Amino acid sequence: MSRLKEDFLWGGALSNVQAEGGYLEDGKGLNVYDTLEVVPEPGIAPMFCDTAVATDHYHHYKEDIDYMAEMGFKAYRFSVVWSRIHPMGDDEKPNEAGLAYYEDMVDYLLEKGIEPVVSLVHFDMPDHLAKEYNGFLNKKVIDFYEKHVASVVERLKGKVKYYITYNEINLAPYHPSLVAGAHKPDDMNQEELFAQLTVNVEVAHAKAVEVIKRIDPKAQVGGMLGHAPFYPLTCKSEDILAADFKNKMHNYLPFDIMTSGELPVYFLNFMNQRHISVDYSEEERRIVKSASTKLDYLAFSYYRSNVQSSFEDIEDLTELENAILFDNRGLKNPHYQANEWGWQIDSEGLRYSLVDFYHRYHKPLFIVENGIGIDEKLVNGKVYDDERISYYQKHITSIKRAVLHDGVDLMGYLAWSPIDFLSSHKEIRKRYGFVYVNRDFEDLLDLKRYPKKSFYWYQKVIQTQGEDLDNQVDY
Ligand code: BG6
Repeated sequence: MSRLKEDFLWGGALSNVQAEGGYLEDGKGLNVYDTLEVVPEPGIAPMFCDTAVATDHYHHYKEDIDYMAEMGFKAYRFSVVWSRIHPMGDDEKPNEAGLAYYEDMVDYLLEKGIEPVVSLVHFDMPDHLAKEYNGFLNKKVIDFYEKHVASVVERLKGKVKYYITYNEINLAPYHPSLVAGAHKPDDMNQEELFAQLTVNVEVAHAKAVEVIKRIDPKAQVGGMLGHAPFYPLTCKSEDILAADFKNKMHNYLPFDIMTSGELPVYFLNFMNQRHISVDYSEEERRIVKSASTKLDYLAFSYYRSNVQSSFEDIEDLTELENAILFDNRGLKNPHYQANEWGWQIDSEGLRYSLVDFYHRYHKPLFIVENGIGIDEKLVNGKVYDDERISYYQKHITSIKRAVLHDGVDLMGYLAWSPIDFLSSHKEIRKRYGFVYVNRDFEDLLDLKRYPKKSFYWYQKVIQTQGEDLDNQVDY
């Protein structure tokens, strides 16, 4: 193959809860992102916005989609905010205004020739489910999620071809409040939480697959994780073992379960060593197994790679594994530069990840997030984001190598993101968009949209099917 296939899904992705605002409009309830108390990333000054307005995508979505169409998007991934559909989460009936809003969005995308890719939970569990039920640690919440999925798919069936069950499912045990609406009960240790939450979110994913396939058998469903490969700090076997353990538990575990329908041996061993038994019924096992036969593709986000070492100060192997899992010592890779937030830029790591996943799972892959956060200012209506262009140039080169040279089956590439939004840490300072949204940390200004230089660069990339990455933009 010398070119990416004609139906390659070029486009972008957004997390609606981070962009919409309109946070109590049309019956929406508060969710875990609205109420999140942010712990800043290491070394970052706290400058967190509230979510009332965000970048006002709620009111600008047609204009924002027009920009996507102008860039030539073939596909656009967005998330249906759960607390717009079921404001409390345990409501008997879905909120009609919420369903109508997303149906309208889908209709508008289709009108513009853009294929919607719909995520069913993305940091947006109704806060009531987190506070009253402890989120996905409670099996009842899996049933509420199943109901949410059914409400959305019933409404969008025949219009949406691609679904993603659960955004960055592997991060649930690391950021339980934002990703799973859960907190660690006093009578549970961190490893127990890790094990039970992993099982519960996998059951939630599996039930979503079953519901989607029952309601709309033609829809294609993917599982999704937040991928960052861990490289051994040195070529010492201790470091290689440490990185291997981390990669299994952090990256592969959800895909291993989703694709085989079984809990992998290394995970069972992790639990056995710690005398952990999880609540996992025969019926749940049956559903997880059944869903594994129906999964169409594997989706992932990729921003960076990480480094893992063994720790010489810890002798006990179980303690050492716990430290590898939970004790982030901020190790850096000497070969890569980082953005301001310390995220190291490793474009060839994306090729490595694609090849690794493809050979491990033999399923079509879908990159559904990739991008760089930059602190940017609008000057005379312009943003010269050459750093973003350079990031994308390198990463798209890398995916082309994975597809054209290594033979990976890749469905598409969705950049993060078409427009500016609040970061997962509620920062407006960390911008990702091809389109700048005019607001500051405290001052909402006029929320006007301005295409950045990268907007025109990406437009040309899509036009040329990824051939012209060096295009000079007249901006
Ligand atoms: C992924 C999330 O973790 O990374 C997004 O799915 C998030 O919601 C993105 O915005 C970038 O991370 P951050 O923390 O810079 O917003």
